[in-house]
Amino acid sequence: MSPLSKNFLRASLIYFMISAILGIIMVSMKSYPAQLLFTHVHLNLLGWMSMMIFGVGYHILPRFTGRPLAYPKIGNLQFYLANIGLVGLVSFRPIHPLVEIFAGIEVISIGLFVVNIWVSTIPPKPEPE
Ligand code: HEM
Ligand code: HEM
Repeated sequence: MSPLSKNFLRASLIYFMISAILGIIMVSMKSYPAQLLFTHVHLNLLGWMSMMIFGVGYHILPRFTGRPLAYPKIGNLQFYLANIGLVGLVSFRPIHPLVEIFAGIEVISIGLFVVNIWVSTIPPKPEPE
């Protein structure tokens, strides 16, 4: 497995642990701040779920067409942008325009994943007879 996939798997597991701990804190409180719910939801969905899919997806999806990932360096950049975007998004939710900047970084990282996987999974042209 590439370092890119391993990095995403490790990051995903760390966000899972943190958001599960936040979930336990939330069930134990009479009422919790909206910021805590936002952080729990997005560390789970953009951290644990999405990053697990990024890591497994980079490994397995291009293999379906028998070719390597089209742009591995863009994959590495996407790893950093996804993490910076997510941590910034949950840390600065109430602070404008910081939250918009980090949300934008998150969206760019999602776009880079989409393009990379899209290009990597176009089936090769069949060899002429
Ligand atoms: C130890 C594990 C977890 C605990 C203790 C936990 C706890 C909670 C609590 C207390 C709430 C607030 C619910 C309410 O007030 O009605 C909540 C909301 C939520 N949790 Fe978790 N959670 C856990 C794991 C997860 C996982 C694994 C995911 C997703 C992959 C997830 C996604 C969500 C979402 C999307 C909401 C918001 C639901 C809404 O919009 O009302 N949670 N969680
Ligand atoms: C660039 C990425 C994203 C941004 C900027 C974003 C932003 C937001 C915002 C502003 C809210 C309203 C909460 C509030 O007012 O504090 C929200 C709620 C929510 N988002 Fe996201 N989101 C993103 C990605 C996602 C993804 C990928 C998922 C699911 C896979 C998701 C699931 C949810 C859910 C379930 C809620 C409702 C949580 C609640 O009960 O309050 N979000 N998001």
